[in-house]
Amino acid sequence: MKVEEEIRDIFSHIRGLIEAYQDIGLGPPPLSADTLRFLSPDQSNNAALNIKSAGKAEDNRDQPTHPASLKDLREHIGDCQRCKLYKGRTHLVYGEGSPVAKLVFVGEGPGYDEDLAGRPFVGKSGKLLTKIIEKGMGLTREEVYICNVVKCHPPKNRDPEKDEIEACAPFLRKQLQIINPEVICCLGRVACQALLGRDFKITRDRGKWRSYEDIPLMPTFHPAYLLRNPSAKREVWEDVKIIMKRIGLEVK
Ligand code: URA
Repeated sequence: MKVEEEIRDIFSHIRGLIEAYQDIGLGPPPLSADTLRFLSPDQSNNAALNIKSAGKAEDNRDQPTHPASLKDLREHIGDCQRCKLYKGRTHLVYGEGSPVAKLVFVGEGPGYDEDLAGRPFVGKSGKLLTKIIEKGMGLTREEVYICNVVKCHPPKNRDPEKDEIEACAPFLRKQLQIINPEVICCLGRVACQALLGRDFKITRDRGKWRSYEDIPLMPTFHPAYLLRNPSAKREVWEDVKIIMKRIGLEVK
């Protein structure tokens, strides 16, 4: 690709991103963690998607043309082709659960089973997450909200790529803004880095409160990791207990 074409591509990608944010009533898209660090070294912990210091999310929050409910937002997303993941998907997996949930779980992206079902966390790791919600916390899936950083299944279960995460970011951000939960439980490295920035290290940083757009966020291991490393369930249970206390659930 010629340099000019590459530059044109980059600008068209940036334009698309800005339009996607504006369309749903969000402020300008976030600056990358690297850019923030460059602009202001003391903001190096700013997240890739956490634009508090980079944009003015509140400015046009109340504009009537913007999606006000999860249903409006889903309609706005439509038959999404904003990134390359649409080519391989069966269903776009938007998210499900209570629109007034106190607790939102954010995973990395739909797997094979989720792609077929059009629902988040219904495969093997989903069954484990459901067990954590029901047996561990005493809640139902309908009482919480479950979604992902990207809404379409990455081919061969690979990690979602930066451009795919960025294309989907405005919609996850808006979902969280609409629900405005008391706590986000962020599952695994990929989701945590998407919400908190690339400096995040799951083994070092899980179990400690962080925040995303002023919403308290608890990072923990992904259930798929627990299936491979059952001994890590103990740590996840510790994290879950912290969340339960925060949202007023009795820990037995
Ligand atoms: N893994 C995820 O991160 N999300 C899902 O929805 C399913 C598996």
